[in-house]
Amino acid sequence: MNAYDSKRMVDVLAPLGYCQSEQLENADLVILNTCHIREKAAEKIYSELGRLRAIKNERLESGSPMMIGVAGCVAQAEGAEMLRRAPFVDLVFGPQTYHRLPEMVARAQRDMGAREFSGRGIIDTQFPIEPKFDSLPPATSPGPSAFLTVQEGCDRFCTFCVVPYTRGAEFSRSVADVIAEAVALVDSGARELILLGQNVNAYHGVSPAGGEWRLAELIRELAEIPNLERLRYTTSHPRDMTSDLIRAHGEIEILMPYLHLPVQSGSDRVLSAMNRQHTSENYLDIIEAVRAARPNIALSSDFIVGHPGETEEDFEDTLTLVERVGFAQAYSFKYSPRPGTPASAMEDIVTEDEKSSRLARLQEVLNKQQSQFNEEFVGVVLPVLIDRKGRDENQLAGRSPWMQAVHVDFDRPESAQLAYGKTIDVRIMTARPNSLAALPLNKLGSAG
Ligand code: 5AD
Ligand code: SF4
Repeated sequence: MNAYDSKRMVDVLAPLGYCQSEQLENADLVILNTCHIREKAAEKIYSELGRLRAIKNERLESGSPMMIGVAGCVAQAEGAEMLRRAPFVDLVFGPQTYHRLPEMVARAQRDMGAREFSGRGIIDTQFPIEPKFDSLPPATSPGPSAFLTVQEGCDRFCTFCVVPYTRGAEFSRSVADVIAEAVALVDSGARELILLGQNVNAYHGVSPAGGEWRLAELIRELAEIPNLERLRYTTSHPRDMTSDLIRAHGEIEILMPYLHLPVQSGSDRVLSAMNRQHTSENYLDIIEAVRAARPNIALSSDFIVGHPGETEEDFEDTLTLVERVGFAQAYSFKYSPRPGTPASAMEDIVTEDEKSSRLARLQEVLNKQQSQFNEEFVGVVLPVLIDRKGRDENQLAGRSPWMQAVHVDFDRPESAQLAYGKTIDVRIMTARPNSLAALPLNKLGSAG
C-alpha cells in the first residue's frame, strides 16, 4: 500500500510542478514513505534521514534548498518526536493526510528559510473527516500491473499489530469511486489490478443503488471491465472470507488462482492471545472450501513466531498447520513488540535466540514447500503478464497466474519490446526457489 500511496503523492504534487526524479541529489523535495509494522522497518528511517541531512546541507551551501518530508505510519506514530530527533525534517504527515500535501508543501516553502533545521516543521497526523480519496486527482501511468486501494485501516485489533492505530479505523471506498479509478487505470494500459486493503475482504463500500457491496460483488463488477485480464486482492483476514468470496474464486476466470491469507500461528492458544478470532481448524476449513472452489489455487500466508507466551508446543502446532496446508509461498517474521499494542505489555516473552531458531525452522519448511511448488512447473506452458525489465539483456520479467516471478529470455530486443505490457505464453525451463526462468513460446514452435 505504501507503493500505491507514494504514486498518489506524485499525482497530487504534479499540479505544483513536481515530477519524479531518478536522482536523490537533484530532488527539491524528498519524501520517505515509512512503515511501522516491525521495529526494524521503523529504525531504518533514522539512518536514511542521516544520509539525507548530508545532502540537504550540501544543497543548502550551493543555494538550492531541499525539502524533506516523512510520510506513512512511522510519521503517524511519532509525530512531534520525529522533529525532535531529526529537526532538519520539514514535513511529518500521516497516511490519511496526503491529499493535503500540496497545501503543506506550499506552506513549508513559504517559510523554509526561516525554519531551516529548527525542528519546527509542519506536522499533520490527523484522521480528517473528509476522506482523502475524494480530493485526489485521477491515477496516472500505472504500468501493466497496477495497485488500487479499495479499503484502508482495520477494526480487528490483533494484539501485536499497529495498523488500527496508525492507519485508523476501517474505511471502504464507494463502488463508484473504485470503478472509476479501475476504468482509468485500464484505459491507461493496466492489464492487472491488485485490489489493496489492510483487511481488504472486510470491504463494504456504498453500492450504486445506495446499499452496500462486499468484496465479492465488487470483484464481479470489476471483472466486466473490457481489456482487464487479471484481478487479485490482498491482504485478507480469515474471518472475512465469506462464502460468496470463496465462490467467486471458482466462478470468475480473471480472478487469479492465488490467495494470500495470513494465519499468523497454528496454535489456538496463541491465536487467542493474538485476538485473531479464529482457530487453526477454522483456517483449515476455509482452505478446504477455497480449494474445492478453485482446485489449482496457490496459497500464501503470514506467520509470526515468538509471540508472547508461545511455547515450543505452540510453535510445533504452527509447523503442523504448514504441513497440512502446503503453501506456495509465505512471509514469516519474528514477533516485534510495537509501542502501544496490547501484546507489547504481555509477559512471558520469548527470547531473541528462541525466536531466531523458530524462524529458521519454520522458513526451512516453507522454503521447501515453495521450491516444490515451483519445480512442478518445469516444462509447463503458462501465461505471463510481462511488466518489468529483467536483469539480463533481452530479458523481461512478469508474474504467472500463481504470482511466481518469471524471467523470460527473448532472442532479439524487438521481440522483447513487443512483449512488454502483454500476457504471453512461455515455457518454464528452470525453477529457482524464488522465481522461474522461461522462454517465449514462439521461439520454441508450438506448445506441446
Ligand atoms: N511483529 C512481527 N510481525 C508483525 N506483523 C504485524 N505486526 C507484527 C509484529 N508486531 C506481520 C503479520 C502481518 C504482516 C503484514 O506483518 O504477519 O500479517
Ligand atoms: Fe493488523 Fe491484519 Fe490484524 Fe488488522 S487484521 S489488526 S491489519 S494483523
